[in-house]
Amino acid sequence: MELLHNNAELQAWRQQFSSDTTVGLIPTMGALHRAHATLFDTARPECDQVLASVFINPLQFERTDDLKAYPRTMEQDLAMLERLNVDAVYLPTPDDMYPAGYATSVEPGLNGSQFEGAARPGHFAGVLTVVLKLFQRCRPAMAYFGQKDAQQLFLVRRMVRDLDLPLTIQPCATLREDDGLAFSSRNARLSASARQEALVLHRALTAAVKAFEGGEHHPRKLEALMRSCFDSSNADLAYADVIDDITFESASESDPISDHPWRALIAARLEGVHLLDNLLLGTP
Ligand code: PAF
Repeated sequence: MELLHNNAELQAWRQQFSSDTTVGLIPTMGALHRAHATLFDTARPECDQVLASVFINPLQFERTDDLKAYPRTMEQDLAMLERLNVDAVYLPTPDDMYPAGYATSVEPGLNGSQFEGAARPGHFAGVLTVVLKLFQRCRPAMAYFGQKDAQQLFLVRRMVRDLDLPLTIQPCATLREDDGLAFSSRNARLSASARQEALVLHRALTAAVKAFEGGEHHPRKLEALMRSCFDSSNADLAYADVIDDITFESASESDPISDHPWRALIAARLEGVHLLDNLLLGTP
């Protein structure tokens, strides 16, 4: 596995491959866990070269304490990437990614200021900016993103479409622990009791799925049901929304659900840790 410490090393690695080599990129911020492994396992048979990036992107953190608290586990990450048979890892520094005087960023549009964007202003401009730079530098044919970050996935796919970027985005299903908690790098920051409390996110989502399957197709009632699951919880609910999965806008009961599946989104804070999750309602 080659370690590429800056853009010059990345370009030297990248230029060995002709245009018919399928390079697959998995962008990460490190603190890798089993859900990341599924992204690499999906990419391996589809790509000639699997490239990971590990970069804690300062642009996507609106709070410096959140940036500082983000888990850093480089040694374990590299050991895991080696085991996953990754070909190369790009490990840029902030200066390599954003040299002095860097000022341009990607504007995600209206969908970027709702849900995660409302709770974390500027977050998606930071995400799209670094993802676009990674696409430009790595020139992948495929890039892999988890469905747990549904809004990020939506915005990345729309950027690819809107800016005519020549690559395919592959969504990968959310991996969960046996009790339903979605794998997340942030789970490591929870105490044992908060880890148990965090199950309320999945409980609320599955309550919405069951109600939907039982015939409740009023999005505001499904949202109220999700909110009610937090009544006796210490988790601080940030949002619980039912959205149209095609437009990522708030679902309306007059929408034809068969053409535009709905998705239930949820986010909450526990011990200062922001957790999010989502589930599709009905069949895709
Ligand atoms: O999902 C993440 O880990 C990050 O948002 C990403 C896509 C690596 C960009 O920094």
